[in-house]
Amino acid sequence: MCGIVGYAGTAAGPQAQDVVLEGLRRLEYRGYDSAGVALQTDGRLVTAKKAGKLARLVEFLDEDPLPPSVTGIGHTRWATHGAPTDANAHPHLGGDGTVAVIHNGIIENFASLKAGLLTDGVGFASQTDTEVAAHLLAKAYAETGDLPAAMCAVARSLEGAFTLLAVHADVPGTVVAARRNSPLVVGLGDGANYLGSDVAAFIGHTREAIEMGQDQVVTITASSVSITDFDGVPADGVHFHVDWDAAAAEKGGFPSFMAKEINEQPQAVADTLRGRVDPSGRLVLDELHIDETVLRSIDKIVIIACGTASYAGQVARYAIEHWCRIPCEVELAHEFRYRDPVVNEKTLVVAVSQSGETMDTIMAVRHAREQGARVVAVCNTYGSTIPRESDAALYTHAGPEIAVASTKAFLAQITACYLLGLYLAQLRGNKFADEISEIMGQLQAMPEKIQKVLDGIGQVRAMARWMADTRSVLFLGRHVGYPVAMEGALKLKEIAYIHAEGFAAGELKHGPIALIEPGQPVFVIVPSPRNRDVLHSKVVSNIQEINARGARTIVIAEEGDEDVVPYADDVIWIPPTPTLLAPLVTVVPLQVFACELATAKGLDVDQPRNLAKSVTVE
Ligand code: G6P
Repeated sequence: MCGIVGYAGTAAGPQAQDVVLEGLRRLEYRGYDSAGVALQTDGRLVTAKKAGKLARLVEFLDEDPLPPSVTGIGHTRWATHGAPTDANAHPHLGGDGTVAVIHNGIIENFASLKAGLLTDGVGFASQTDTEVAAHLLAKAYAETGDLPAAMCAVARSLEGAFTLLAVHADVPGTVVAARRNSPLVVGLGDGANYLGSDVAAFIGHTREAIEMGQDQVVTITASSVSITDFDGVPADGVHFHVDWDAAAAEKGGFPSFMAKEINEQPQAVADTLRGRVDPSGRLVLDELHIDETVLRSIDKIVIIACGTASYAGQVARYAIEHWCRIPCEVELAHEFRYRDPVVNEKTLVVAVSQSGETMDTIMAVRHAREQGARVVAVCNTYGSTIPRESDAALYTHAGPEIAVASTKAFLAQITACYLLGLYLAQLRGNKFADEISEIMGQLQAMPEKIQKVLDGIGQVRAMARWMADTRSVLFLGRHVGYPVAMEGALKLKEIAYIHAEGFAAGELKHGPIALIEPGQPVFVIVPSPRNRDVLHSKVVSNIQEINARGARTIVIAEEGDEDVVPYADDVIWIPPTPTLLAPLVTVVPLQVFACELATAKGLDVDQPRNLAKSVTVE
C-alpha cells in the first residue's frame, strides 16, 4: 500500500529521475492512485506529481523532464486521506518548498498536529495526513540544522504507521527516512545507495540489502548508510542477499504478471519444497526456531490471514487436523484481533502472508504474542514485518509476486503449511516415518501435475472468452474444494469485477440453490472418485441438483471420472491427485479463467481498480 523509493548517487551514475521512476514502476503494484517524484538539484528541490497511474507522470516528464539530479525520492499512492488528486499526490512540501516528504501508512494523530501547525500560521496545500510530517520536518530542521535529528524528532511526535522519506534543499546528496509499522529496506549499491518499500524498488541495481528494524531512522548518501533509533542512538540493520534478480520482476513475454505468475506455479511449489527433506524422507525445518518441547505441548493451532492467504489457511486446516490430530481454526486476522480470542502459551498461531506487511495480520500477530501464543509466519517476503515479529518463519519460495491478485503465493502457502503440518506430525509421533515420506513423495509429484493442468488449459481460455458478458458466477466445493471455490470466486471479483460467490456444496440446499436459474454458470470442484463412498457421490448429487434446474455446469474432475459426464456442460480434467493435495491443481483452471475473462473484458489484469497488493493499513 503505497510504494516509496529513495536514491542517493553520484554524477558517475545514472540520473535520479530514471532510477526513481524505474523503482516506482516495480512498486506500482502497491498502489496506483497517483505518482510523484522530488529531486534535489543546485540547492533547491524540484517536484512533479500526477493523479492516476505512473504512466501519466512518465508521459508528463517525457515532455517536460526535471533538471539533472543524483538524489531523489518517489512515491506511488494508494489513497487513504484525501482523494486521488494531483494536490494529494506525494511528495508534499514543507518550509516553503525546502523539504519534500513521501509517506506510506497512516498518521493517526495528524488532526491534532495539523491544528497546532494551523495555529502557527502554516498553510496546507492538500488534505493528506502526510503534509503534517513535511511541515513538522521543515520546522525541526530549522531548529536543529541536522536532518537526521530533525527526522528523529518528527518520528517521535507521530502516532500510527509510517515510512517517511525526505530530501532537503540545504542537505545535498542525502535522503533521510524513518519507519514505524510500515516497511522499509535499504539497498547497498556500488557508489550509490537506495531505499524502497521492498527490494523490487532497487533490484535492477543491487541484490545486497539491509532490513530496517522497528522505530529506526536511516540516512543514506552515495557512500554511506547510517541507522539510529528514534533517539539518535546508533542501531544495526540486518544485512541480507536477495535470491532473485531483476528478470524475475519482469513479465518475461507474458501479457500480464498474473499470467506469468500462474505459469510459475510448478516452480513455486518445487522451490518451497526444496531442501526441506533429508535423503531418508525425514522433514527438516531448520528455520523453525521453536523449542521442540513447546511444539509437542501445543493443544490448538490458529491460522490467521487475509484474502487469498486465508483460503490457503482454510485448505491447510483439513490436512493439519488430519495429520496432527490437533484442533485447527482459521480466522481472518482482522476478526481474530478484535474478538478477544482464547489463545495462550499452548496455542500455535500460524500467520500466513505473501507480503508480510498486511497490517491486519501484523496486529493479530502482536495480539497473539501478547497472550503468550507462539507464532510461526508463513511468508514470501524475506525480512518483512510479520516474519520479523514472529517466533519463527517458514518462507515460501515463490519469488516476487507482482500482480495484485495472488496466485503462485497461494500454492506456495498451501505447500508450506502442509510442510508445517507434516513436521508437527513427525515431531509428535502422529505419523510413522514411512507415512511422512509417502506424503512428501506425493507433494514432490505436484509440480509436474500442475504443469500438466497448465499445458491443457486452452479449453478454459476459450470458455472465459465466450463468457465475458456473464454477470454472475457461482463456485461449489466440498472439503478442501470449498476454500478452492471461495478462492475461485475471489479471483473473479478482484480482476474481472464479476459478482461471484463460493459455497460449500452441502450448503446449496440451505439457500444458494434459489439463485440457480437457466444458464447460470456454476463451477463445481469434484473430489477424487477414489473417495466414492463419501465426498465424491455427494458432490455428484449436487451437480445433478443444479443441472436439473438449468444451471450451466462447469465441472473440475479427475481424469476418468465418468460419473460427472452426464450432468456437466463442460468438464475440465485434472490428473489423479490425493484428496488433500488436490487444491494445488483444482485452483489452477479457476485462476486462468479469471485472468482470461478480465483480459477479454479489456481490464487491467495486474492492477484492478480500488485494490492494492500490500494492504498496510487496518
Ligand atoms: C490484499 C491483496 C490480496 C492478498 C491479501 C493478503 O488484499 O489484494 O491478493 O491475498 O491482501 O495479503 P498478504 O500479503 O498478507 O498475503
